[in-house]
Amino acid sequence: MKKFLAIAMAAVMVLSLAACGGSAAPAAEEEAPAAEAAAPAAEATAEVKEASAEEVAEVAAVTKVGVSMPTKDLQRWIQDGDNMKAQLEELGYEVDLQYASNDVQTQVSQIENMIASGATVLVIAAIEGSSLGEALAMAKENGIPVIAYDRLLMNSDAVSYYATFDNYKVGQVQGQYVIDTLDLDNADGPFVLEFTAGDPGDNNAGFFFNGAMDLIKPYIESGKVVVTSGQTTFEEVATPTWGTDVAQKRAEDILATYYADGTELDAWVCSNDSTALGVENALAANYTGAYPIVTGQDCDIENTKNMIAGKQSMSVFKDTRTLAAQVVKMVGQILTGSTVDVNDTETYDNGTGIVPSFLCEPVFADANNYKELLIDSGYYTEDQLK
Ligand code: BGC
Repeated sequence: MKKFLAIAMAAVMVLSLAACGGSAAPAAEEEAPAAEAAAPAAEATAEVKEASAEEVAEVAAVTKVGVSMPTKDLQRWIQDGDNMKAQLEELGYEVDLQYASNDVQTQVSQIENMIASGATVLVIAAIEGSSLGEALAMAKENGIPVIAYDRLLMNSDAVSYYATFDNYKVGQVQGQYVIDTLDLDNADGPFVLEFTAGDPGDNNAGFFFNGAMDLIKPYIESGKVVVTSGQTTFEEVATPTWGTDVAQKRAEDILATYYADGTELDAWVCSNDSTALGVENALAANYTGAYPIVTGQDCDIENTKNMIAGKQSMSVFKDTRTLAAQVVKMVGQILTGSTVDVNDTETYDNGTGIVPSFLCEPVFADANNYKELLIDSGYYTEDQLK
């Protein structure tokens, strides 16, 4: 028999704050006044069912969780998969973890196999957010809850929840860094920038790009910032598959076409580390001016080494351990029929409606704080960064 524990709303806030290391504070604060204004009475009496450790252990012992990850090519997904598996197994779940080599059809088959072999919950980080329709429909037919992991699963009503980092904020952290470092508000300029964004098939990519672009755009409009290539729309600067080689090729073309005459670059705003690496490779071989600011995201090992070596200016640390912990918690909450921890019910519409989401907080990283963030916290060993 299931035991449910009703606790006050305030306590839930505290719980959801704790889930991502206090990171959810801004979202929770923003939401609180609106909720109060809308329904103070309802909020005061809202019953929240918390999953007890015993209940979770009971369901974990009979549950197989399918964890579908996009690729092992990128450091972060290996980390994500390892963390999910370790944390789920620690609670007693059986785990079927699969990587799809960035091949959509492989991911579809893997998910279908997970369902056929008895997985009763699915956690999916999609290669291409809109391409898993059939597999997701199969999950729904079988009553299997689906959590979209980091990347939203699009155009499917089979998605129960979404857990990610605040993707728009990632872009804002990058954009604000460029504004502050170049001192765009006070310095004369003009400053020369280029942009590289992510994969159009990944719903996150637009959030990252817009987060940065929305902050930098006024400076482009005022003439303080010049984008020499003229490429300023997401479509123009996108990087299919997020491939390092794809980003490198585009950067080489831009450098050859617009910078071979000695024009200097002040910053190259890259949405993530895999694309930043491509830009850094292109700069190393094809650019001799003063080295520009290069932004990134993920704190991948190669990029962290480049930060230490001065070839990348910053990254955004998204601690995959916290995201995994949040998702593991949500799995337990879903299976025990408890209240599922979400902190955003407005931002992520997957085409069939808003998917209730939990957004973890991204953290600014650079050569000055990487030790504290990445080594002291046990994310990497010092040797891995040598
Ligand atoms: C993730 C990023 C990652 C990118 C490429 C995005 O969906 O949020 O952290 O850099 O995919 O793998």
